Amino acid sequence: NQAVIGVVGLAVMGENLALNLANHNFRTAVYNRTVSKVDDFISGRGAGKPVTGCRTIEEFTAALETPRKILLMVKAGAPVDACIAELLPHLQPGDIIMDGGNSFYLDTVRRERELKKQGILYLGVGISGGEEGALNGPSLMPGGNRDGWPAVEPILKTIAAQVDGVPCCEWVGPEGAGHFVKMVHNGIEYADMQLIAEAYGYMRDALKFNNEKIHRIFSNWSRGELAGYLLDITSDIFTFKDPESGALLLDKILDAPGQKGTGRWTSVAALETNTPVPTLTQAVFQRNLDADKELRIRGAQLLPGAAPDENDPMTADEIAEEISALESALYCSKLCAYAQGFALLKAAEREYGWPLNYGELALLWRGGCIIRARFLNDIKAAYDREPGLENLMFDEFFRDAVKRRQDGWRYAVAASALFGAAMPATASALGYYDSIRRADSPSNLIQAQRDYFGAHTFERKDRLRGEFFHNNWTH
Ligand code: 6PG
Repeated sequence: NQAVIGVVGLAVMGENLALNLANHNFRTAVYNRTVSKVDDFISGRGAGKPVTGCRTIEEFTAALETPRKILLMVKAGAPVDACIAELLPHLQPGDIIMDGGNSFYLDTVRRERELKKQGILYLGVGISGGEEGALNGPSLMPGGNRDGWPAVEPILKTIAAQVDGVPCCEWVGPEGAGHFVKMVHNGIEYADMQLIAEAYGYMRDALKFNNEKIHRIFSNWSRGELAGYLLDITSDIFTFKDPESGALLLDKILDAPGQKGTGRWTSVAALETNTPVPTLTQAVFQRNLDADKELRIRGAQLLPGAAPDENDPMTADEIAEEISALESALYCSKLCAYAQGFALLKAAEREYGWPLNYGELALLWRGGCIIRARFLNDIKAAYDREPGLENLMFDEFFRDAVKRRQDGWRYAVAASALFGAAMPATASALGYYDSIRRADSPSNLIQAQRDYFGAHTFERKDRLRGEFFHNNWTH
């Protein structure tokens, strides 16, 4: 009774994916370096399910039907290489290795190329959805050696999240495309989270709303155009009490965010491909800045801020307007974050020759993943209307949405600045929007400065592009 697929690595994601596979009746072999984990799994959560526990790599590779289909769920980086090296002597040409971790896409490019020489079909599979998604249906972004796809397609599509009968799993592209797409997903995830946190900060610090009120607002938003997983869990977070003190747990959590690197990689990839993703990058910077709690405590003592008029209570209408402005700001900024993310996906075609199907990616992200949201259907529709869409903001549906909401967006950014309650990602999104709609930017001045101090030359508005001029500024 050979196993259809094997999972290496039984940390929480690996364990849950193995259970997901077994729950769909794919006999699954499992292996983990620390063998006690295998024993625990077989006698615990895996008991009574079609799983085969393997205590050595030899046992594991022998337990698999050929061509072998192996899903690596180990920590990104050196452990992936170590795992591949351990497996290789026991594999044969035609076997398939899938890396389901958050691997750096250029590592995946390298591994795919190296393994191809040995006849091993390597796939980098972006997996999103956290623990719950892994168990009940994640969003899967497979890429790499396409020859490996037909054998794993039915399995991956079965265990993926399904939305309207369509699996959130589709072939993404060659080499590192799967992990590149997952990386951009995470860049958007960072921005999405930061934008929600900024709305919370404004309500808490500028509007002085209590937690109950903030909870009601988030839960209202999560039923409207902004509906999606991150708003759902945000609203839920406002209901959790700290078992120790009985206070809201959120109020006890230290405001020092962590990060594992995927957001940073997104920004690095954007810088390297000259793709402006200011809102995504601002979200990474903000995690860095907020992580330094001590600096902010000193800053709070030393640095003067705005002095809002505390004696001017707002009317109910004014409060409603503030909330509506914030919702508009969140919607429009989120749209900018997606526009930036999709622009970076486009850069993958320019830079690496991986043409991606943007509408299809929106479908992959409709369910299972962290950024899943109603909004993704509108993005899919935008790419259906115009597959070659230059920028997501140019789509007619979104242009209309921004037209209706931009006053609120502008008000929220201005009010947060006047109050001194930082909303840097929201403000950067507005800056992005106003920049891409400005035919005449002030960077003629930058060109003049560059030519002035360094004879870097400039093109002229009244001449053809590509003709360069220098002015003798100092005489
Ligand atoms: C997902 C998540 C998941 C993980 C990331 C982000 O799509 O399921 O993105 O992969 O949460 O690693 O983690 P950090 O916030 O720690 O970078």
